[in-house]
Amino acid sequence: MLAATAQRFSPDDPLSGLVVGDLPEPEVPDGWTTVSVRATALNHHDLWSLRGVGLRPEQLPMILGCDAAGVDQDGHDVLVHGVISAPGWRGDETLDPGRSLLSERFPGALAERVAVPKANLVPKPPELTYEQSACLPTAWLTAYRMLFTQSGVQPGGTVLVQGAGGGVATALIALGSAAGFRMWATSRDEGKRARAVELGAADAFETGARLPERVDAVMETVGEATWSHSLKALRPGGTVVVSGATSGPAPSAELNRVFFLGLRVIGSTMGTRRELEQLAAMLVQTGVRPVIDSTYPLAEARAGFERLATGDAFGKIVFST
Ligand SMILES: NC(=O)c1ccc[n+]([C@@H]2O[C@H](COP(=O)([O-])OP(=O)(O)OC[C@H]3O[C@@H](n4cnc5c(N)ncnc54)[C@H](OP(=O)(O)O)[C@@H]3O)[C@@H](O)[C@H]2O)c1
Repeated sequence: MLAATAQRFSPDDPLSGLVVGDLPEPEVPDGWTTVSVRATALNHHDLWSLRGVGLRPEQLPMILGCDAAGVDQDGHDVLVHGVISAPGWRGDETLDPGRSLLSERFPGALAERVAVPKANLVPKPPELTYEQSACLPTAWLTAYRMLFTQSGVQPGGTVLVQGAGGGVATALIALGSAAGFRMWATSRDEGKRARAVELGAADAFETGARLPERVDAVMETVGEATWSHSLKALRPGGTVVVSGATSGPAPSAELNRVFFLGLRVIGSTMGTRRELEQLAAMLVQTGVRPVIDSTYPLAEARAGFERLATGDAFGKIVFST
C-alpha cells in the first residue's frame, strides 16, 4: 500500500527523510481493526517526527500521520481517535502515562490503510466530507479541548489565539466564535489577519502588538516567540492554555508575572474520544467546517509537507487516497 514514511531524521532538513512509496499492509493486533483511509491530514507533529522528536532511530521507517477518516471493515464511515491508550487504561485517554499517538509507537495514518484499536473508531457524521473529517482527530480536537475543557472561559469572554494561520489556531478561531467567545488573533502576516477576521475573529493584531484590553485566556501553540506577549495579554487570574511550541520550548517563564497576577498555565494535549464525538456533533449543529488550505493526492504528499514547512498555509493540509 502507498504510505508516507520517515526513513531518517534531520533536524535541519526534515523533508530529506520523507519517502512516499509502497509498504506492506499493516499488522493487526488482537482487539484492533483496519481502516481504509479516504482522507488524512498533515500536522506539525509529522515535521517534528522527521526531525527525530518523539521517535528513536530503531523505530524507522515509521509511517507518519495522526489523522484518518475512512471506512471500517464493516463498511461504516469512521473517524479514528488518534490517542492510543495502554491496554486496560480507563478514563481520560490524554492522561494515560502509557499513551501514544498514531505514528509514535504504532504506524500512522498517512497511508491507504491504518490499523487501530476498535475502541478508537468514532462514527463519521454524514454531513462532513472525508477531507473535513480528517482535520478533526488532532488539530480540531486539540482546539476543542483547549477552549471548552481547559480554558475555563464562559461564552462572552475574550480569548486570544497566537499565530492565526495554524491548523490548531484556525480551529480555535472558528470554534470559539461559534460558541460565543470574543476571539482575538495575532499573526505576522497581514493576509492571515484578514482571513482570521473572515473566519470569525472579532479582531486580529500584529504578532506582539499591544491589545486594546487584557483577555481572559490565551491559546498558545507558538511557544518562545509569543510566550511573553501571552502572559502580558492576560488579565489578573487569566489562563494560558499551551499545547505546542513551534518556535521553541524554552522561553523565560516570567514566574514573577505568573505568581503576582495569579495566572494559570494549563498544558493540554489532543482530547478524549468523548470530546472527539462532541466536536463532531458541534460541527453538525453549528455548520462550522474545518478550514482546509489545500488538498493533495497521498502520492503527492511531499508537496503538502513542503507547504506546511513554509509556514504560509492557512488551515489544514489534507491528503486524499
Ligand atoms: N499537544 C497537542 O496535542 C498538539 C496538537 C496539535 C498541534 N500541536 C503543536 O502545536 C503547534 C501548532 O500546530 P499546528 O499543526 O497548528 O501548526 P501549524 O499549522 O504549522 O502552525 C503554524 C502557525 O504557527 C505560527 N508560527 C510559527 N512560527 C512562528 C513564530 N516564530 N512566530 C510567530 N508565530 C509563529 C504561524 O502563525 P502566523 O504565520 O499566523 O503568524 C503559523 O501560522 C505545533 O508545534 C504542534 O506540534 C500540539
